[in-house]
Amino acid sequence: MSPRQRILSGIQPSGTLHIGNYFAMMKPAIELQADNECFYFIADLHALTQTPKPEALRERIAQVAVDFLACGLDPDRTVFFRQSDVTQVTELTWILNCITPVGLLERCHSYKDKLAKGLDANHGLFSYPVLMAADILIYDSNVVPVGQDQKQHLEVTRDLALRFNNQYGQTLTVPEPLIGEAVAVVPGTDGQKMSKSYGNTIEIFGAEKEMRRKIMRMVTDSTPVEAPKNPDSCNVFALYKLFASAAETQALRKLYTDGGMGYGTAKQMLFEKYWAYFEPFRRRRAELLANPDYVERILQDGGRRARHVADETLRRVRTRVGLA
Ligand code: ADP
Ligand code: TRP
Repeated sequence: MSPRQRILSGIQPSGTLHIGNYFAMMKPAIELQADNECFYFIADLHALTQTPKPEALRERIAQVAVDFLACGLDPDRTVFFRQSDVTQVTELTWILNCITPVGLLERCHSYKDKLAKGLDANHGLFSYPVLMAADILIYDSNVVPVGQDQKQHLEVTRDLALRFNNQYGQTLTVPEPLIGEAVAVVPGTDGQKMSKSYGNTIEIFGAEKEMRRKIMRMVTDSTPVEAPKNPDSCNVFALYKLFASAAETQALRKLYTDGGMGYGTAKQMLFEKYWAYFEPFRRRRAELLANPDYVERILQDGGRRARHVADETLRRVRTRVGLA
């Protein structure tokens, strides 16, 4: 990647963060802070599409803020803010709505999946990708680190930016998604994609006993202890790889292929790696939880800096489309 790009990503405050969120989105986003200009936000407007209880939403916003900071988001380097603190984004959403073909949104998987599950779709859910496009385009973002499931939304964003530029002249920066191949899809305890909606998550900051229990109950095949096992089709191995060094991964691979190791041993090794990996983060989190005012100040300061950039883009866009 060329030096110093503008990186942007968002995460919904829709529940407790899990290791799928961490490895696919948060960790890459945190690593990119070193040499880039980063804008990371809490997508609270997107969370409204699920009409959460107001108290629950407020609580989750605060929780995601603390958890992201605990995982290494550095507010001295990165603009960290609440999506809803930048009202310019909803105005850009409207302008983009007016160049968005309905068919483009009808083809989006996340919307189609919810319909297929029989969920009542509100209009917010339908036009979710347009709000996401506005999030990205309003900061002239070059690169957007996300998990595989957001790839289509990035395609919508690129499509809308190109459409806008075609219609009104070069105005918006066309962004690139950044999807880490190795962690494109992190499997859950049942082997499906790890997701809050499937109840198969391992939380970043779960309680020790409960997390041990979840890992020890992970679904594996029924290969007997003495038989050789295939690491590459095993979700326990897939998760272990995320935490372990190359040498440690190689050592566990050998235990699988040699035979004589039960899945319980691999699960125990996974739990230990997982627990040790997040130990420093847990300590930082405890400090942040004791300092809610500090966290709030970070978000307010981030909001101010984000609004400044958003204002500038919106002014350009308004002029282009013929608004005052
Ligand atoms: P969930 O599916 O649990 O509701 P979100 O949709 O809130 O998670 O995802 C937040 C971010 O984490 C997105 O960038 C998404 O692509 C990524 N992500 C979530 N779950 C996984 C997973 N199992 N594997 C890879 N990336 C994931
Ligand atoms: N839709 C993303 C998710 O569910 C969250 C999000 C909203 C986002 N706006 C964004 C991610 C802009 C990247 C860029 O995970």
